[in-house]
Amino acid sequence: MKNRLLILALLLAMSGTGIAAPAGDRYKNFLFGADYYPEHWPESYWEPDAQWMKECGVNAVRMAEFAWYLVEPQEGQFDFKLFDRAIEVLARHGIKTILGTPTAAPPKWLTNKYPETLAVYSNGQPVDDQTRRHYCYNSPIYRRLSKRIVEEMVRHFAANPNVIGWQIDNEFNCHISECYSESCRVAFRQWLKDKYRDLSSLNTRWGNGFWSQWYTDWSQIDLPFPGPAQQNPALMLEFKRFISDSVISYQHDQVEIIRRQRPDDFITHNHMFKNINYYDFVRDLDIFAYDNYPCFWEQPQYGVGAQLTLARGLKGRMMVMEQQTGPGGQTYLLRSPRPGEMSLWAFQSIAHGADGMIHFRWRTARKGAEEYWYGVLDHDNKKRSRFEEFKKEGLQLQKIGSQIFDSKLDSAIAVIKDYDAEWVFDHQFFTEEVNVGSQFQHFFQAASEQKQNIDFIGSNDDFSRYKLIFGPHLILMDQKLATKIRQFVEKGGVFVLGAHTAVKDRDNGMTDQTVPILVGDVFGVERDEFQCYQKPSKDKNSIRFEDGSTVPVHVFADKLKLGTAKPIGQWTADYLRSTPGCTENRFGQGTAVYYASFFNLESTRYLLSRYARVLGLKPLMTGVPKEVEVTRRVKGDQEYYFILNHADSAVKVEPGAGFSDLLEGKPAPAAFTMPPFGYMVLGRKK
Ligand code: GAL
Repeated sequence: MKNRLLILALLLAMSGTGIAAPAGDRYKNFLFGADYYPEHWPESYWEPDAQWMKECGVNAVRMAEFAWYLVEPQEGQFDFKLFDRAIEVLARHGIKTILGTPTAAPPKWLTNKYPETLAVYSNGQPVDDQTRRHYCYNSPIYRRLSKRIVEEMVRHFAANPNVIGWQIDNEFNCHISECYSESCRVAFRQWLKDKYRDLSSLNTRWGNGFWSQWYTDWSQIDLPFPGPAQQNPALMLEFKRFISDSVISYQHDQVEIIRRQRPDDFITHNHMFKNINYYDFVRDLDIFAYDNYPCFWEQPQYGVGAQLTLARGLKGRMMVMEQQTGPGGQTYLLRSPRPGEMSLWAFQSIAHGADGMIHFRWRTARKGAEEYWYGVLDHDNKKRSRFEEFKKEGLQLQKIGSQIFDSKLDSAIAVIKDYDAEWVFDHQFFTEEVNVGSQFQHFFQAASEQKQNIDFIGSNDDFSRYKLIFGPHLILMDQKLATKIRQFVEKGGVFVLGAHTAVKDRDNGMTDQTVPILVGDVFGVERDEFQCYQKPSKDKNSIRFEDGSTVPVHVFADKLKLGTAKPIGQWTADYLRSTPGCTENRFGQGTAVYYASFFNLESTRYLLSRYARVLGLKPLMTGVPKEVEVTRRVKGDQEYYFILNHADSAVKVEPGAGFSDLLEGKPAPAAFTMPPFGYMVLGRKK
């Protein structure tokens, strides 16, 4: 298996040889449409389908991502005629096609003949092959066969002008995100060899003297199967990095084939799941696609908003490849979107940076595991209210799509997401209440309530674009990240660090340094001791700030020893009472804040509003109630404000004069009432 360095080298080489056009250029206009499965319907349906799609403003569909059984009905025999015909029918109505490579669902002949291609659970049991996503990324046979089907498919469509883009596979790591196959075992050893070169270095960096785990041969290294006691955290973190690199490398095989034969098509992949470092993963793609199913959230306003923010942050823009349209479920059944909610949620995606909106799915399947996932049309193919809502949305996007296309959300506030750090907490989770990922929803909600745009960024991203950055529990610290934080504060930024940050090195081991390691002087504090409260941690302690505000603790309470920092809040209970719980340190032109607990909604609300005030960050818009979300996208001197009423009741909004209502094509009044689940796009010049 190629390791991460090799992939990066390949990517660099490709851009150097001119094989790859500049990223972003290949994704050329706002796409609106649906996921379409022509193979599941009589051919007589296709023409009326295309006519109805056209009536709704559809300009693109995605298809073929689960059709391997059809395009390679027997090993080595290929037949793409059905898709040739379907693409042609749609094209006559101005509808282009995004093709999914079909590798998420291997055909039965394949798994039957090559059972070693199946993924394996940690108990050694191969995964059942009667659903989907049951293959192993590192199986040499699967890699060979998936490269071949993609090669054949791309060659077949190489001259087809109606294909505009490719989705690689479908939802990597959905359903299953770890594999314990023999192929993975072999690949893991090789991956470690490539990374460490010599075994003694690996032994030392992992601390394998502990519990007599010193390896004397590479073949002794194994995947972290369940054992009587807990595994070494160093091994656990490397296993996650290995899984991520396996997916990236698997995807790269297909990207390389497409780039070679169709250099102008865009390449994407849809959605985020466990054990993939998406900042690394998206480098191979032109645009990242999010699959948006708000009914999985109790409060989509904040839960989905946070996810969209994360997806956008990977490449600065995104599209939606699957937007929930109707009720859905397999064995379970989610609630139905209420009238208006489907399009409200679609506009929420766009409000957060989507440059394309593909709904799942055109018509509801009559058979199979997803016969309860409702599309634009029902099983009986009658136009009902979902069709009318889809059509209204499509025509609206036809009107504004090209204007808003490629506009960007602008934010002065960022939160750093570090996959390595989150993976550390997956293993050493401390208490049931620790969920580093869920803190992003708190940050999002706090910012959204305060009508601020917010970005989630990787630790390798540029910090200088921001004024206020939060580092929630970046447990692993290295020199590069420490230097970036130091320089950001020196130049005038406010950096807020949460508890249990800068505790270990990137090998996931403790060091001989004092916490927070490598940045102690920037923050002007030492962590003297800590308390880890069990649930409900909120009742156990709180921090009272000097302005009288109090926020409850979330799991951790660090006892701090002050250096140059000044306390701005104190612990109210336990033996920590009256000791500093939050500190500020002037460093260079900026301020380094140590917040001595995990972030929760109360603390993110407090800290965001405090430092937004200090930095003079104005809300995007005033006169907008809590249940109404606002975001701003900007292109040149043009600003687009997305205003979304998430409430099931009418609300009054008073943004003031000077905006135009882009969906209606007329000036917007200074005050207006929005209907339940209403949305608007207001424009103005900067
Ligand atoms: C997505 C998947 C689709 C479909 C949909 C509804 O996760 O990509 O193929 O399964 O969910 O369940």
